[in-house]
Amino acid sequence: MEVRALPFNSEVPGDLLLLLSEEELKDYPWPKASLKELFEAQGFTAKLGETASCVYLPEGAEKTVKVVAAGLGKGEKLTLEEVRRALGAGLKEADRLKSEVLTVLPWQNAQLPAGQAARAITEAYFLAAYRFNRYLKEQRECSVRTLQVGYLPEQEVEVIAALKVGQTLGEATNLARDLVNEPANVLTPERLAQEAQRAGEKYGFAVEVLGEEEIEKLGMEAFLAVGRASANGPRLIIMRHLGDPANPEQVLGLVGKGLTFDSGGLSLKQAKGMETMKFDMAGAAAVIGAMGALAREKVRVNVVAVVAACENLISGKGFRPGDIIGSRAGKSILVETTDAEGRLTLADAVHYMVSAEKASVVVDVATLTGAVIVALGNLTTGVLTNDQSLFERLQRASQQSGERVWQLPSFPEYREQNKTPYADLRNVGGREAGTITAGLFIGEFVEDTPWLHLDIAGTAFREKDGDYLQKGATGVGVRLLYHFAETYL
Ligand code: BES
Ligand code: MN
Ligand code: ZN
Repeated sequence: MEVRALPFNSEVPGDLLLLLSEEELKDYPWPKASLKELFEAQGFTAKLGETASCVYLPEGAEKTVKVVAAGLGKGEKLTLEEVRRALGAGLKEADRLKSEVLTVLPWQNAQLPAGQAARAITEAYFLAAYRFNRYLKEQRECSVRTLQVGYLPEQEVEVIAALKVGQTLGEATNLARDLVNEPANVLTPERLAQEAQRAGEKYGFAVEVLGEEEIEKLGMEAFLAVGRASANGPRLIIMRHLGDPANPEQVLGLVGKGLTFDSGGLSLKQAKGMETMKFDMAGAAAVIGAMGALAREKVRVNVVAVVAACENLISGKGFRPGDIIGSRAGKSILVETTDAEGRLTLADAVHYMVSAEKASVVVDVATLTGAVIVALGNLTTGVLTNDQSLFERLQRASQQSGERVWQLPSFPEYREQNKTPYADLRNVGGREAGTITAGLFIGEFVEDTPWLHLDIAGTAFREKDGDYLQKGATGVGVRLLYHFAETYL
């Protein structure tokens, strides 16, 4: 996969991808006059997701040219997400035609600046061409190996800069997808830590990995309880990108849930669907990917990311329902079910983030509850916060990345559900408002630090192909966290 910028003249440089809106269809500057008729004859109306294509042999040429048109829908108030979706649909058609080098014509739509569009196009290309095929004997890649993004002379500077950011975001998201798609027999906590180290070397951020003894010294009793049953020991992964050394007191803390597998423990999950629980480290993958993108783009913000990586299994060493365990914050927790393990690991991780790393803002990302899928489906990440201005920043980031977010209420009365007479907290808040009480449990460990909680249980993995994200891991959170960090510039 490769993207390059192409200064565009009127000569047709090979296979073409035209992204155009319904309004533009009439007076589009077709690179060849007869194309308009060819597409119209196929009934192409440029609706979002709609594509049409043709193959022709230019006069005197030896090689055919393939042209794909992909609709952007209504051109007014065009969004970046619509550009990504159109690109994804167009790429699918180009792949079907076995096109290898594909050129997108220069951006002409005044609704979006050319730089923004070029970033979305590049991002979407990397995301749409991604395949998780490393375990297949016959690997079928997307046929399009090179995407050329055409630009007009006056667009040169912005388009070239946009291609670089788009590629970084696309690759960092695909890194997260690789980690999530990797099965749990391969991706143990130790291996996840190694992958974080590799990403640190490749993208340029610092990584520190702590083993069981050191985690014990940090007093992370709740985290250790969750991982105790597995033969694959826990790891605490700490990643640092200090992009703004002049302001060391401003630190954005990212925390990702890192259960490399969640069987439920003694409160065992049912067999059906348990295999998807390899994805229970998607929050960790999101923060690793985001660190990569922030470091490669040298974003001038201090960011520390922490992952408490472990595996929730069953053995004679494991914790049990009814156990009362400690935590780094000194609060005791009654374990009512061993399947509500994520909040236990995150409680210690966010407390470490505010107490040891002195983060001034904390964002945790976690595949935390099935309840968020019931509430919001697979389209939208559920969010809780103790600081409304943070959610507003997140909404701005969401407009950049297209990853949808929706805030759930965090009225103090909900906290009552996490109480028990036998310990300071219990790890389940009952059946009602399951996503809210799970999030607020983590909130008990951030002290007064401004905090956002992102429940990505519905959005981290998809069962069906989408416009530009295939079935499997989505890498949700990477681009969102990157743009969130940018709001601190
Ligand atoms: N990793 C799961 C959350 C999850 C469940 C994600 C289903 C995707 C699909 C989490 O550890 C969990 O098991 N949560 C429980 C909490 C309950 C026991 C309070 C859940 O949501 O069922
Ligand atoms: Mn669980
Ligand atoms: Zn879990």
